[in-house]
Amino acid sequence: MQDILNRTSVRRFLDRKIEPEKLKQILQAGFAAPSAKNTQPWEFLIVQNRETLAKMATFSPYAGPIGRAALGMLVCADTNCNPFIDYCEQDCAAATENMLIAAKKLGIGSCWIGVYPNSERVEPIRQYFSLPQNIVPLWMIAFGYPAETPKVKNKWNDAKIHYEKF
Ligand SMILES: Cc1cc2nc3c(=O)[nH]c(=O)nc-3n(C[C@H](O)[C@H](O)[C@H](O)COP(=O)(O)O)c2cc1C
Repeated sequence: MQDILNRTSVRRFLDRKIEPEKLKQILQAGFAAPSAKNTQPWEFLIVQNRETLAKMATFSPYAGPIGRAALGMLVCADTNCNPFIDYCEQDCAAATENMLIAAKKLGIGSCWIGVYPNSERVEPIRQYFSLPQNIVPLWMIAFGYPAETPKVKNKWNDAKIHYEKF
């Protein structure tokens, strides 16, 4: 519970590699997510090459953290698993949140970087990674050992909780 409550986005990282065993645990957390009809439409493209990470940082004006990360992940949906992209997105978001929490538990910071549905981001990524038509790049995740400790935001909001009726 503390890892959920204390997770923050981390955008600055140490020059330290993520151990393969830790990456495996993060991926295990992703694969453990629920998905509509258990279709598991996710594809995880893992990047540690510095040149490729620098390129990924150019795909969005807000993608700076991926260029500083030890490891970048492109989370994609496979619409052959579920033709409804909205469901794919929900499934992949569940997998992503699991991975962010698992990373936090392992002492690794992370930042979710939005891509889909902005076509100015989707199309260059699709081309760069030669993605087939059924594979939709949804977002990227920057992972790395934190070089900063952002303050935890208090997001609790009584006004957003509704009992029995809205
Ligand atoms: C769908 C989505 C897209 C996001 N895109 C970006 C982004 O492009 N760049 C970035 O630095 N942070 C991005 N974030 C991180 C949010 O800015 C961050 O989660 C939010 O400000 C709350 O802060 P916290 O994660 O520290 O609690 C994104 C988060 C989500 C869920």
